[in-house]
Amino acid sequence: MKYQAIIFDLDGVICFTDEYHYLAWKQMADSLGVYFDREINNRLRGVSRMASLEIVLERYSGPALSDERKVELATMKNDIYRESLAQMSPADLSDEVRDTLNGLRERGLKLAIGSSSKNTPFILGQLGLGSFFDAVSDGNNITRSKPDPEVFLKAAEMLGLEPSVCLVVEDAVSGAEAGHAGGFDVACVGDAARAGSGDYNMQSVAELLDITAG
Ligand code: BG6
Ligand code: MG
Repeated sequence: MKYQAIIFDLDGVICFTDEYHYLAWKQMADSLGVYFDREINNRLRGVSRMASLEIVLERYSGPALSDERKVELATMKNDIYRESLAQMSPADLSDEVRDTLNGLRERGLKLAIGSSSKNTPFILGQLGLGSFFDAVSDGNNITRSKPDPEVFLKAAEMLGLEPSVCLVVEDAVSGAEAGHAGGFDVACVGDAARAGSGDYNMQSVAELLDITAG
């Protein structure tokens, strides 16, 4: 078996927080009178909070915003987003994701998270996965956002493994690029799979059980 570990992106792979991100950015953008839609929201996948804000502000045409004001706006979005996250529970972990995680672990694979989100510990706690993963690398321990490979390289380092024996799982094209830039094989679902960005392009994460069989 080629792989000793699987490093999962969080948003869009383990859980489905897209709509919460969308609603929170939408509310923030509305408060500034800035146009925002689901297509723009898609461009925020895998992108850090402050870099996402810059994308949202591409449509802003009012007076220049200071760095302090930008932090305030990002905080406004995050406060709204966390109200949605606070409603999440272990019931929000799909049977498919749960069964896949357990199946992979039974095979002896190490399991880790590689996410740009600073809310990763909160989300994992809400899903009942607070102490499930062997390593968690997230927005709190990186300085460069995907497509930079830093978050995945740190996850591999925490596991004590080389990228060549770790498989990255992603739903974002920027995340798949990050995996490849770090020397990882990448398995994609969702948007990134439709774009053909992965070494494996899957209909669902359950296919990881076939990929890692034998
Ligand atoms: C990524 C999401 O996982 O985390 C992005 O795909 C998000 O949409 C990024 O902007 C940062 O999230 P947070 O929770 O730190 O604001
Ligand atoms: Mg994602």
